[in-house]
Amino acid sequence: MNQHIIQTSNFSGKTHWDKAALASLIEAGRIHSRVYTDPELFELELDRIFSTSWLFVGHQSEVPSPGDFQTRVLGRTSVIMVRGKDKGVRVLVNRCRHRGAQVCETETGNTKFFRCWYHGWVYDTNGDLAEQTGDEAYDDSMDRKAMGLTPVPRVENYRGFVFASFAREGETLTEFLGGAAAIIDLMVDASPTGELYADGGSHKTEYRGNWKLVGMDGYHPLHLHASVMETIHRDPDSGIGSTHRSNPFDDTAATYTRDFGHGHSMLDFREHRIKHYEQHSEFIKKTSGGAEYIDAMHKAHGEERARMLLSISGDPHLGLFPNVQLIHNQIRIVTPLAADHTQVEMIAVRLGGVSDEINANRLRHHESFYGPAGAGSPDDTEVFERVQRGMQAELNPWLDVSRGMAREFTDVDGSTVGRISDEVPQRGIFRHWIKLMTQS
Ligand code: FES
Ligand SMILES: [Fe+2]
Repeated sequence: MNQHIIQTSNFSGKTHWDKAALASLIEAGRIHSRVYTDPELFELELDRIFSTSWLFVGHQSEVPSPGDFQTRVLGRTSVIMVRGKDKGVRVLVNRCRHRGAQVCETETGNTKFFRCWYHGWVYDTNGDLAEQTGDEAYDDSMDRKAMGLTPVPRVENYRGFVFASFAREGETLTEFLGGAAAIIDLMVDASPTGELYADGGSHKTEYRGNWKLVGMDGYHPLHLHASVMETIHRDPDSGIGSTHRSNPFDDTAATYTRDFGHGHSMLDFREHRIKHYEQHSEFIKKTSGGAEYIDAMHKAHGEERARMLLSISGDPHLGLFPNVQLIHNQIRIVTPLAADHTQVEMIAVRLGGVSDEINANRLRHHESFYGPAGAGSPDDTEVFERVQRGMQAELNPWLDVSRGMAREFTDVDGSTVGRISDEVPQRGIFRHWIKLMTQS
């Protein structure tokens, strides 16, 4: 068994991850910890996942006006998402066409031009080369029109969520999202006007652990976040939503893990939360503008869907492989920096068409669990570092992800479903991971 792993477990030189070696890392219900620790595999991931897959770049509301820009890192590439002077949103490689310097060092702002600091070439917000310093030294053999900032080959937008792919050809964004697109809708449709604004502030955190550790895990909250859960139970009117009124992480609750394929998965609280609609709507009504919000949701979506959307508070609890998660009212971008180093950016989202008080409540909820001084996220990053350290042990390197394997089933929409604590998402992610890693 796993000769390849045994051969590579004490490697002192370069390891060659051929298809057979890669395939031997994933078994039914278990994963070799090398997938999280090996620097060479990390480089392969950048080549085979981040250079080929659709990647989330940002939300269109981050760049509402011409000249607005936001830089992000996709795999190895720094990019600028910019609203051009023609009002179109582009994703441009942040690399001067002269000798390669980054042309934008600021994360976000508004500009008319990107001027390279090195020799002063200037690009406009459409990415076109606007000025070459000392251009008399270049003759007509240089096609200046072809010397603009390089656009990422494919960019698509799903309901305001901007994705890009370095692959010139391949599946469309619609094919990539599959059944997960309807789950993104849960976040967008929480606004009666279908508008989200990713302007509620963001913060970044880094941890010394692998990027794939951030995921949909319905098994850990009762344990890792036990103290938070207890506090929430003691304060059932804290406005944290309906999740606290009975425990959604109990396997007897009507809560599920769901894998859509492509490594996309969710913690599905819909059935559970809708049972608590009345309590939740009472809470909303107590908020200024709450009754109007409920009314507007009924008008926009019809009563049945409005009840569901209000029950879940626009929380898709969705992970889209490889780099974005939509949790509560947060867009979470996962940026791999090294096999054992990851950055997570959390952007709070505001709903259009609702009162300031409703958005303020949502933001307080976000801060209380996920914020820099929040009660939840620091636990997660701490445990990811413990996992990364634990995985350095080479004896018994296999990780178990078999929970619920015998009871998962295929739903009518083709998704795989398990109980809330089942490791359906983990298995789904690695099913897709191995597919991408072994593609030729
Ligand atoms: S590297 Fe940008 S102008 Fe020279
Ligand atoms: Fe957590």
